[in-house]
Amino acid sequence: MLELLPAPPVDPLWDLAAEYTADPRPERLNLVLGVYRDHTGITPVMAAVKEAEIRLAERSDSKEYRGLSGNTAFNRAMLSMVLGGPGTEALTARATAVQTVAGTGALRLLADLVRQTRPGTTVWISDPAYVNHRPILEGAGLLVRTYGYGAGMLDDLRAARRDDVVLLQGCCHNPTGVDPTAEMWEELAGLAAANGWVPFVDLAYHGLGDGLAADLWATRMLAERLPEVLIAVSCSKNFGLYSDRTGCAIVVGSSRQALRNVETALQNAARTMYSMPPEHGAAVVATVLEDERLRAAWLAELDVMRHRITANRADLVEHLRALGCAEQAAPLARQKGMFSMLPLTPDQMRRMRRQFGIYGTTSGRINIAGISAHRIPFLAQGIAASLETPHAVPSV
Ligand SMILES: Cc1ncc(COP(=O)(O)O)c(C=O)c1O
Repeated sequence: MLELLPAPPVDPLWDLAAEYTADPRPERLNLVLGVYRDHTGITPVMAAVKEAEIRLAERSDSKEYRGLSGNTAFNRAMLSMVLGGPGTEALTARATAVQTVAGTGALRLLADLVRQTRPGTTVWISDPAYVNHRPILEGAGLLVRTYGYGAGMLDDLRAARRDDVVLLQGCCHNPTGVDPTAEMWEELAGLAAANGWVPFVDLAYHGLGDGLAADLWATRMLAERLPEVLIAVSCSKNFGLYSDRTGCAIVVGSSRQALRNVETALQNAARTMYSMPPEHGAAVVATVLEDERLRAAWLAELDVMRHRITANRADLVEHLRALGCAEQAAPLARQKGMFSMLPLTPDQMRRMRRQFGIYGTTSGRINIAGISAHRIPFLAQGIAASLETPHAVPSV
């Protein structure tokens, strides 16, 4: 039987990461995957997470199955983080949350919900998009169309029809690092209201752009103004829980009554794939968010991470300017979040990989959160040399 299996496509990001691992050059730089590293090059367990884990280990006395929606305290905490706050009772009353296997699981369960609601629905994704958006949506049996990302996105999205779904990244767009302006978000809300399409917001980097509240602003605004919004939340980056696979699918409906079948539909989708999500990461997040002191400690750590990312980007821009690449550095200065899009062609990206061992994606994306500050001059020199700027001579 297995000889019938056709060669499947290889995940381009993990393929590059494997190429990096096999690269013997000690000076090589891995800027492929979206993983935060501190100044020592380590992806740390956040102190608030560690403390929550210790508390959980001390009081843990059973690993009995949880319910099909996962950890309900976590689901409440996610709803409150994304949509809650003073005066939002009416909004949270028309929203429901189900724990998922990280952000990817949330995207997939929500895509499945869309398919169960209306098979053959068209979902619009940005071009360029996060590499896994199209495979997840097509894997759930949905049709995918693209809108050009940037200033022209509103024009493209005028073609989205009633009951189409439009996937938007809530903040820190992957891969470009550029988000719509507040005015564009308002226009998007107006367009969705006028034409009847449903926003599907992917939240993977909240807290790492302009701060937690600012990064959640657009999602909240859409949820407040529109009758239906789907939200996929990942705790991988902002809690550093990458391998604990922690996330949440949130559905906002026009009323509590409109949500009556949603939780069961999401549960059923999960039931046939993995039954129910793993407990550990969700219990950690709930413990952190429910305890005032731990929550404040987590927010402070998140701010430290955000400031380090911002400082890395500013430093790279400065070094590029010093190497005579002011023009190429200008768009980088406006980007935010973990990723930056370099103004390099696929050939130049390959050249940078081959010649200097600097690994970004072929499309030009680098993880700006994955580099130690002392390696930024090397990165800037590699970029400048790949652009064939005369001043640059890379040295480790
Ligand atoms: C835009 C976006 N959405 C979702 C995810 C999925 O994250 P998770 O690891 O939580 O599944 C990622 C991960 O890189 C991402 O960049």
